[in-house]
Amino acid sequence: MIVKPFAPATERNSQPILDVIKYELQDTKSVLEIGSGTGQHAIFFAAELEHLTWQTSDLEENHNDIHAWLADAALSNLPKPLSIDVLTAELPAKSYDAVFSANTAHIMSFAAVQKMFSLVASVLDEDGVFCLYGPFRENGEFNTASNAEFHRMLQRRDPVMGIRHLEDLDQCAASGDMQRLRLYAMPANNFLVVWKKMASEDIHDNA
Ligand SMILES: C[S@@+](CC[C@H](N)C(=O)[O-])C[C@H]1O[C@@H](n2cnc3c(N)ncnc32)[C@H](O)[C@@H]1O
Repeated sequence: MIVKPFAPATERNSQPILDVIKYELQDTKSVLEIGSGTGQHAIFFAAELEHLTWQTSDLEENHNDIHAWLADAALSNLPKPLSIDVLTAELPAKSYDAVFSANTAHIMSFAAVQKMFSLVASVLDEDGVFCLYGPFRENGEFNTASNAEFHRMLQRRDPVMGIRHLEDLDQCAASGDMQRLRLYAMPANNFLVVWKKMASEDIHDNA
């Protein structure tokens, strides 16, 4: 029997995230997930969002975990994971009308976060959305003392890790013609941010 890895936080935040993305992805047909981890989010969301295809991806070394969850779920809207390291990734062959990622921006270096945004901008169709979940800083401030402590803990683990500033992420998004659409406050002091890829006529209008 294959033992599936289990992430308790992922189990806890799945329903609150689903409550948001049910609305944000209501007209979406194809989602690319970056940094799928165990794959728990993917099977939970794909089962509830039957109108779309959920494409998982992660570093090759995490694929066995994802395969284990996907095999058990046996859902027709969950294809096999893609191997995507945002630092080196070739563009996937197709485009997507949404990209989702959870708890990745504080784990990746900021250089990798920048690459993730440029990858997202390249694969997103016009008017597509990028939903990014995790802890963030707003106006230079941590939203809680526990997130400030979490940031220090991450930096002790690896100085390139850390809780990102929303304003820096907005700049990364703007470099790829994406604009922040909505910011949701989520349980456990997290946020879910939604950026939209602008249509070329909107970019022209705003120039
Ligand atoms: C904290 S885990 C989050 C996993 C999952 N999204 C969740 O919320 O449970 C961070 C994930 O980011 C992935 N990751 C780290 N660096 C990456 C990179 N350069 N490219 C793609 N994924 C990366 C890791 O492999 C890991 O699966």
